[in-house]
Amino acid sequence: MSQAAAHSPSRKRFVVEPSQSLTGDIAVPGDKSMSHRSMMFGAIAHGVTEVTGFLEGEDSLHTLEAFRAMGVHIERGGSGKVTLHGKGVSVLAPPTADIYLGNSGTGMRLLTGLLAGLRIPCVLKGDASLTGRPMRRICDPLASMGASISTGKDGTPPLHLVRTDSLKAIEYTCPMASAQVKSAVLLAGLHAQGKTTVHEPAVTRDHTERMLRGFGVELEVNGLSASIEGGQKLTATSLTVPADISSAAFFLVGASMTPDSHIVLKSVGINPTRTGIIDILRLMGADISVNNPRETGGEPIADLAVRGTQLKGIEVPEELVSLAIDEFPALFVAAASATGTTVVTGAEELRVKETDRIQVMADGLRALGAQITDTPDGAVIVGKRLSGGTADSCGDHRTAMSFAMASLISDGPVNVLDCANVNTSFPGFASIAAAAGLNIMEVNE
Ligand code: S3P
Repeated sequence: MSQAAAHSPSRKRFVVEPSQSLTGDIAVPGDKSMSHRSMMFGAIAHGVTEVTGFLEGEDSLHTLEAFRAMGVHIERGGSGKVTLHGKGVSVLAPPTADIYLGNSGTGMRLLTGLLAGLRIPCVLKGDASLTGRPMRRICDPLASMGASISTGKDGTPPLHLVRTDSLKAIEYTCPMASAQVKSAVLLAGLHAQGKTTVHEPAVTRDHTERMLRGFGVELEVNGLSASIEGGQKLTATSLTVPADISSAAFFLVGASMTPDSHIVLKSVGINPTRTGIIDILRLMGADISVNNPRETGGEPIADLAVRGTQLKGIEVPEELVSLAIDEFPALFVAAASATGTTVVTGAEELRVKETDRIQVMADGLRALGAQITDTPDGAVIVGKRLSGGTADSCGDHRTAMSFAMASLISDGPVNVLDCANVNTSFPGFASIAAAAGLNIMEVNE
């Protein structure tokens, strides 16, 4: 049996009867990007790191298990509480078996950078989706630092990290807007000789930079460039992971596009490198207020209140694309509800996510009665009432949850296929959505 088949999740689908609106207070789970990083940094820090609000989803749990496999003592206290007993990098031992990272591009790309710098030999593997994703974008810069990493055919996983001499710092200009590439190079730079600098073509999420500072690491950030001096040690800290704005996005869209909706999403991360979804929905006419802004662990958070309305189509400004990159599946549904036409351009990175999200959303929304034309770097969507029908998420958590929200603008039931991977980022989605008013049933197959 292949590795992907051995780990393939049980099949699930959503059956969602037409739903009218969303109401009430909604708490979504912890941020996935920050949960991964909290495990990576707590594991290599000196001392005991306490994490609360950790996302107990499959992706971030794979990262946690990877460090257990390398000898770090990690306790799970339930309800998002994790204690890592870090002893610095010297206690990390090469794992005795291949490390399996499931569906997680973040887990694989960041871990590769970190482990390359630590010169820990290992093999990193993933599920069928991850095994098809491009890794040269990290392997090339890491190779120029001196790492020896072999990939599968076409530069895809599994990745074999071979123990090499210590890495040397580089100055790297990243060809695509990617926080994963930026982070992989900076994490390799943390243990390289000299100062590593990454220049980005557009702003991407800066959780690596912020959280490393929380662990006492010095970084220079200057516009689209970030630099790190090699040889720095991390000191344990306590941190609270905010609720994930990428999970909140499904409810932001669902409530914004249905006039009788009124919801409040509690304690959501509003890091300005992640709030493109709010900006784009507001340009479409959404009524979203950012209340009670405060800070936790170096990250801004707030309660987001949404009142439903009739959205209107827009040309999505390209400078907002990297600030909302994971939210486009949900935004495509918002566009399908809007009056007029929405045009998305400059979003070709969507084609190399857990699925080709332009294709999967275009196919699925068309099957539900939407008028959508996919383009190489986006889509053109003309809003209208949907009929309902069957949409295949193709095993992508974010397309699955987006299609479920399409039931709010459909006349007939929406069936969403292949939904088990919702557990990678949003365990409990169906029951939280049901409590907010979605007529959703989760069916095991
Ligand atoms: C992430 C970066 C983004 C995003 C992913 C999480 C991260 O990927 O899509 O879900 O945590 O750094 P890219 O770096 O490929 O844009």
